Amino acid sequence: MSDTAYQQCTNPACATTFGIDEVRVACTRCNSLLDVSYDWNKLPRLKSLAFFEHRWSTKGTAVEGRLDFSGVWRFRELLPFFTSEDQIVTIGEGRTVLQQADLLARQMHIKPGNLQLQYEGLNPSGSFKDNGMTAAFTHAKMVGARKVACASTGNTSASLGLFAALAEMTGIVFIGSGKISFGKLSQALDYGALTLQIRGDFDDCLRRVKQIAVDVPAMGIYLMNSVNPFRLEGQKSIMYRILEARGWDAPDWIIVPGGNLGNCSAFGKAFMELRDLGLIKKIPRLAVINASGANTLNELYTRQNLRWNDGHVDQQKIAQHYATLDEAQYKPHTVASAIEISRPVNLPKALRALHVMNGVVREVNDDEILEHRAMVARWGFGCEPASAASVAGLRKLLDEGVISKDESVVCILTGHELKDPNATVKYHTGIDMKTVQELALRTTPTGRLSNQPIQVEDNLEAIVTAMGGDPSLVAGMELSPVKSTLPISEY
Ligand code: F0G
Repeated sequence: MSDTAYQQCTNPACATTFGIDEVRVACTRCNSLLDVSYDWNKLPRLKSLAFFEHRWSTKGTAVEGRLDFSGVWRFRELLPFFTSEDQIVTIGEGRTVLQQADLLARQMHIKPGNLQLQYEGLNPSGSFKDNGMTAAFTHAKMVGARKVACASTGNTSASLGLFAALAEMTGIVFIGSGKISFGKLSQALDYGALTLQIRGDFDDCLRRVKQIAVDVPAMGIYLMNSVNPFRLEGQKSIMYRILEARGWDAPDWIIVPGGNLGNCSAFGKAFMELRDLGLIKKIPRLAVINASGANTLNELYTRQNLRWNDGHVDQQKIAQHYATLDEAQYKPHTVASAIEISRPVNLPKALRALHVMNGVVREVNDDEILEHRAMVARWGFGCEPASAASVAGLRKLLDEGVISKDESVVCILTGHELKDPNATVKYHTGIDMKTVQELALRTTPTGRLSNQPIQVEDNLEAIVTAMGGDPSLVAGMELSPVKSTLPISEY
């Protein structure tokens, strides 16, 4: 299928295309984000979305069943970038549940039947990230990558660790020291990923790992963050499953927490394509919810009126906002550590999604997040704090009258409740488990498979050394905003 898929710059004024077998994190001409695009006219025409239903009941054993078993790949005709089906790296991701949350609806004073929760925490690694990793690992396998890496607030690292182990690739994760929940850290360690705890936050980690992937090709790093357009192809499937569970009837609203803004971008792309293919009549409205302590999108979209504007995004407005953050030495801070991000790399794509889905953006504070997380657990089956931003955001939009009680709403619960048990324990008992852990006695781990995290300064030579590379590769190299977007060619 490869002659029908290509990569394309998202800036309409540029629109440069690249081959599907190239590895890039941005357009080499204008530095904008890339999409995976398809020449749909050359692909078998899909007459209706109901075509996909027959795959739902597979046992997943035969070759064909292996793909049908995945909640991502059973929609493979809608992400046809792979060249052959045996390249697909799948572990049965995306078999998630759309719950009709009537008890929670009653608490929120919404008509029973009108609130549904999409439990992406039921993925193998416990978060929605598996939807994207299966696609990005498939691309990594297509191009022969051996070492994969990401920066993460926790869930991406857990998902990367799991897929890397099963795909027999080396997984490397960059996490901000003390910034991710223990549940997520324990997963990265358990799956055998080389875990670098960088002194800094997510934004610092992403800049570093992107710089190494792009500017130090000799390290042979394939970047798994959501600037990788293949990740977002897999995340489109969350929307397909919601439509499928609702008999292909779109809800009035989709509400999702916003961090690095990959997920909402993928949702917008999914609906853009379904509309262009004539497969849906109605596009739901989108609400993206920031935490108040990491509210870049809300600040720029709601307060400063930044818009997609047919692809002519006001870059100066963004630059000005970031300069203000720098001046104030601002660091994002929220109990929803998964979305503690102040420089979301997918911002332009998120603006496009908000345009396509007639969207709104709001922010919710930590108390609202914690209260709604507890409600989802008490009257649903639980989620981590960041996920509950969607439900807290729904409350806000109901109060404002933006969403009415008669409208149908799906909130995306992005991560499992057990990802961050500390937040839950603290909510119910007042005990700060993080402090308890910091004071706890240390012993030397003796397990045969024990995999200790490595503490590293936010310094390129130190990081490359910790990754097992030669520090002379980066001698004198400065950390500047990554300008170079050379393809990564040496694996
Ligand atoms: N919810 C959870 C549970 C997440 O882990 C994330 C992102 C988001 C929401 C936000 O999604 O970035 O697509 O807007 N976590 C990333 C990580 C950043 O590294 O695990 P987004």
